[in-house]
Amino acid sequence: MSVTIYVPCDAAALALGADQVADAIAGEAVKRSLDIKLVRNGSRGMVWLEPLVEVATDKGRVAYGPVEVSDVASLFDNGLLEGKDHPLSLGLTEEIPFLKKQTRLTFARCGVTDPLSLEDYRAHDGLKGLQNAVAMQPADIVAQVTDSGLRGRGGAGFPTGIKWKTVHDTQSPRKYIVCNADEGDSGTFADRMIMEGDPFVLIEGMAIAGIAVGATKGYLYTRSEYPHAIAMMEQAVEIARKAGVLGASVLGSRFAFDMEVRTGAGAYVCGEETALLESLEGKRGLVRAKPPLPAHKGLFGKPTVINNVISLASVPVIMDKGAAYYRDFGMGRSRGTIPLQIAGNVKYGGLFETAFGLTLGEIVDDIGGGTATGRPVKAVQVGGPLGAYFPRALFDTPFDYEAFAAKDGLIGHAGLVVFDDRADMLKQARFAMEFCAIESCGKCTPCRIGSTRGVEVIDRIAAGVETDTQIEILTDLCQTMKFGSLCALGGFAPYPVMSALTHFEEDFRPRPESQPFVQAAE
Ligand SMILES: Cc1cc2nc3c(=O)[nH]c(=O)nc-3n(C[C@H](O)[C@H](O)[C@H](O)COP(=O)(O)O)c2cc1C
Ligand code: SF4
Repeated sequence: MSVTIYVPCDAAALALGADQVADAIAGEAVKRSLDIKLVRNGSRGMVWLEPLVEVATDKGRVAYGPVEVSDVASLFDNGLLEGKDHPLSLGLTEEIPFLKKQTRLTFARCGVTDPLSLEDYRAHDGLKGLQNAVAMQPADIVAQVTDSGLRGRGGAGFPTGIKWKTVHDTQSPRKYIVCNADEGDSGTFADRMIMEGDPFVLIEGMAIAGIAVGATKGYLYTRSEYPHAIAMMEQAVEIARKAGVLGASVLGSRFAFDMEVRTGAGAYVCGEETALLESLEGKRGLVRAKPPLPAHKGLFGKPTVINNVISLASVPVIMDKGAAYYRDFGMGRSRGTIPLQIAGNVKYGGLFETAFGLTLGEIVDDIGGGTATGRPVKAVQVGGPLGAYFPRALFDTPFDYEAFAAKDGLIGHAGLVVFDDRADMLKQARFAMEFCAIESCGKCTPCRIGSTRGVEVIDRIAAGVETDTQIEILTDLCQTMKFGSLCALGGFAPYPVMSALTHFEEDFRPRPESQPFVQAAE
C-alpha cells in the first residue's frame, strides 16, 4: 500500500531546500522499490523546522525536521514510512506545542491539504461557506460578516461588514472585488502562506464577497516578488473555473463571479488601497485623495470592495460555522483569530494563529522562545515598518487593536519583528524615516519633504550636534507628518521614530561612539 509523504512547496520551505529534499525522497523510494505518494503541501508555519517532512500513519501524521538531503537515506533506514523514531523526529505533527497551542480557523487547511486539490479542499470543509452563501440573500451575507465582528487584517482594522454594506448599497451596473495581496510589511508572510498553501480559501472568500455586494469580477493584486504565490493562485483560479466554483454560475447558482491575478512591480505604497487601484488600472502607484471612498468610486470609477487576503480568507469559515462561532474568539472589539507572524531575531519564528488577547510578552517569550541569539529582547516592532517599537516594559499589552492604539502602537498586519539588546534604536528610527523617504509616492509635502528632513535631523542627533534642539525638531516634524500626511505612509512613519525616542531615549543621547556629523546628501 502506498504511503503518503508531505514535503512543503511553500516559498520559505523552498528557500531552505524543500525541492531537493522532495527529490531525494522520491529517488530513495525508487532505489528501495517502495511505493510512496509525494504530496507538496503548504507550510505549517514553523519556519525553523522547514523543510518539515510528514508521513501519514495510522496514528496521524508524523513529522521530521528540519530535513536536509543528507538525512534522507537515514530516515528511510530508520523506518520513515512507518513514522518511526529518528534524531529529527518531532512526533505527531498536531502535538508539536507551537501548533497545538493555536486556534486555526483561517489557516485550518494550510499545510494539511494539497493546495491544488479541490477534492482535498472539499474533504476538509472547503466550499461549505460558499454553498451556504449562494442559498442566501446578499444582504444576509453582509449581515453575517458584520455580526462576526471581522475587521480588516490589512492594517487599518476597519469592520469588513460595514465596508461590504457600503458597496452593497451603492447602485451600479458594475462593481469589483479587489484582494490586496501586496503584503509589503516587514516580517509578514501570512498572505503568501495562504496563497501558496490554501489558495481555494481565498478564491472562496472572494466569490462570497462578490455575491454579497453584487460584484461579478474580482482582481487579486500581488507583487512580482511572490512568484510561487502567483503561480499557485493562477493554477487554482483555473481549476476553480473548470469546476464551476468560478464563472457564470457559481456552484450552479444564479450568481456569477470570476477573477484574475494581477502583478505589480513591487512598491510599498502600492499596498495602500488607492495607490493599488491606480496600479491595477495601469498607472503609477500614486495615492488618491479620499473622498470618494473606493466603496463608492474605486476600480475604474466603480464601487469596489478592497480587502486584505486574510480578511477575505476568513470569510468562508464565518459563512460555514456562523457569525457567533467566529465572534466568540477574541477580546473587546477585536473578534476572531489573528495570524501572528513572528520574525526577526527570534528562536521560534513562524505563523501562529490565535484568538486576539495574548499579551506581547506571551507571544515573544513563550511562543517565540525569546531571541535566536539567546540575548535579552530589547524591542519588538509590531505592525510592519510603520509600527511602533515596544520595550519589555509594555509586554503586558494584549494583542488587540484598541490596546495597541492606547500605547501609541498598531497591530497592522500582525507582523512582529524581534530585536535583541544590541539593536541601536537611533539607527532604527533613521531607517524608518529613510524608508518613508524612499517609498513615498510624493503626492503630499509632509511625507515627501518631511521624511528627508527627518533623516537629516536624526543624522545630526547621531553626531551629537545640539541634541536637545534636534530632538525637539524631530518631535515637531513627527507631529506635522502624523497629522498632515495624506495617507498612512507619511502619517505612521512617526510611530517607529517616536516610540524609539520615547522608550529608548538613551540611544539618542551622545555616546562615545557617536559619529562625526555628515550631511545626509553626501
Ligand atoms: C503605505 C501603505 C501600505 C499598505 N500596504 C498594505 C498591504 O500590503 N496589504 C494590505 O492588505 N493592506 C495594506 N495597506 C492598507 C490598505 O490601504 C487597506 O486598508 C486594506 O487593503 C483594506 O483591507 P482590509 O480592510 O481587509 O484590511 C497599506 C496602507 C498603507 C498606507
Ligand atoms: S503620505 Fe506619502 S505616500 Fe501617502 S500620499 Fe502623501 S506622499 Fe504619498
